[in-house]
Amino acid sequence: MLLTDREAKTGEQFLPPSNPETVLSPNQQLFPLTATVNEQDCLEIGGCDVTALVQQFGSPLYILDETTLRTTCRQYRDAFTKYYPGASQVIYASKAWSCMAVVSAIASEGLGFDVVSGGELYTTITALEKSGFSEREISEKIYFHGNNKSLAELELAVEAQCQIIVDNWLELETLATYAAYRKQVVPIVIRLTPGIECHTHEYIRTGHLDSKFGFDPNQLDAVFTFISEQKFLNCLGLHAHIGSQIFELQPHQDLGGVLADWFKKALDYGLPMEALNVGGGLGICYTEADDPPTIEEWVKTVAKAVKTACEQRHLPLPKLIAEPGRSLIGSAGITAYTVGSRKVIPELRTYIAVDGGMSDNPRPITYQSIYQAVIANKMRTPAQEKVTIAGKHCESGDILVKDLDLPETSLGDILVVVGTGAYNYSMASNYNRLPRPAAVLVSDGEANLIIRRETYEDLIRQDLLPERLVENA
Ligand code: LLP
Repeated sequence: MLLTDREAKTGEQFLPPSNPETVLSPNQQLFPLTATVNEQDCLEIGGCDVTALVQQFGSPLYILDETTLRTTCRQYRDAFTKYYPGASQVIYASKAWSCMAVVSAIASEGLGFDVVSGGELYTTITALEKSGFSEREISEKIYFHGNNKSLAELELAVEAQCQIIVDNWLELETLATYAAYRKQVVPIVIRLTPGIECHTHEYIRTGHLDSKFGFDPNQLDAVFTFISEQKFLNCLGLHAHIGSQIFELQPHQDLGGVLADWFKKALDYGLPMEALNVGGGLGICYTEADDPPTIEEWVKTVAKAVKTACEQRHLPLPKLIAEPGRSLIGSAGITAYTVGSRKVIPELRTYIAVDGGMSDNPRPITYQSIYQAVIANKMRTPAQEKVTIAGKHCESGDILVKDLDLPETSLGDILVVVGTGAYNYSMASNYNRLPRPAAVLVSDGEANLIIRRETYEDLIRQDLLPERLVENA
């Protein structure tokens, strides 16, 4: 199908303006901040030609722009300093993308970490140790979440002396017993369900009362009574998270009042409360139609809400903690694929298949997420056809982008999907036994491999073949 002139866009027009005077909020951009088009019409990120990166590191390839990542870290940190008069800490929700290089880069910007499993905890501790942080710094940086932490995970967290965000009665009682057994004071934070609705996909909403996460607020008195009787539990804060990919500011404004009410109650119980954690949730641009608030606007709203609510209740200002994931790393990442087969169904649809799909980006099939994509080697060529980008998995729903305007696309072109920095690598699988792609970190014309591409050998590394299945063994 031919497009009208109005629709005949080029990839170049989706790039951020290249005016260095403009301070851009990365979460409002479709592309990483360093994206440009070079003389060969090719997309460059971090001073590296994307097509050359694919030649060097293979396809598909996750590409992470260090400048964008560091800029978001600084924007979060600086905004808290600007808008919140008390102490504050920004901790990265590492479920968005946890690997050694990401942890190390974010830690070097002064941020802490929210981890949700023994695996994320182990990755974070190891990366921080290797990056030269002391034991004490590591324990101060890490907060351990999870609605069903195992005993082994709790032991690892207590050993590391990080703060544990307690989610339910089983965990609270287990920790009380374990801390007393070790005669070690364990710092905890209580997670509550705030009962705040927001508009996002139902799978990533967590603030409403019918949620598997956190204590129900009607348990507050019982929880605080229990904790105040424990010699080895030090309750330092309260936590609530509303949901993810949220464009409204009102829910986070409302959260300030809810948290302040709980904070007051905790202080009345004599608990040594220091901090309120508002969770994460700020959305990012996946398509032109998305219009999330800036990082600064979000922080300003959160900071003002908590400050005002505490002042109204004559409470001391708590340390304010936020744990962004998607808005911290989502817009810093892109995924490059190589174009393969084409199927034209006359008058209906043209499918273009790429060499990855739902195994490296399960978000479209899981949440019906909409993505934007361009042909990295034809950035100035106007769009000429409407196509649907299919993955290579044996599943009809394995579609990465529907009805995308692209220039005429041929075998071997490099298709780039943008906004894949969050919840892509971290949710990747080996479905259909596809090896997981490599990832590179780009900056100032340099590209460093940060995750090796899996090999077929990697795929069978954990497999065992019992001898009785082997003929003539
Ligand atoms: N804190 C807690 C307790 C969370 O559960 C989450 C995300 C965050 C912080 C970070 O939220 P963010 O700033 O990234 O919105 N896989 C889904 C997203 C799941 C979010 C889970 N919790 C997706 O791909 O959309």
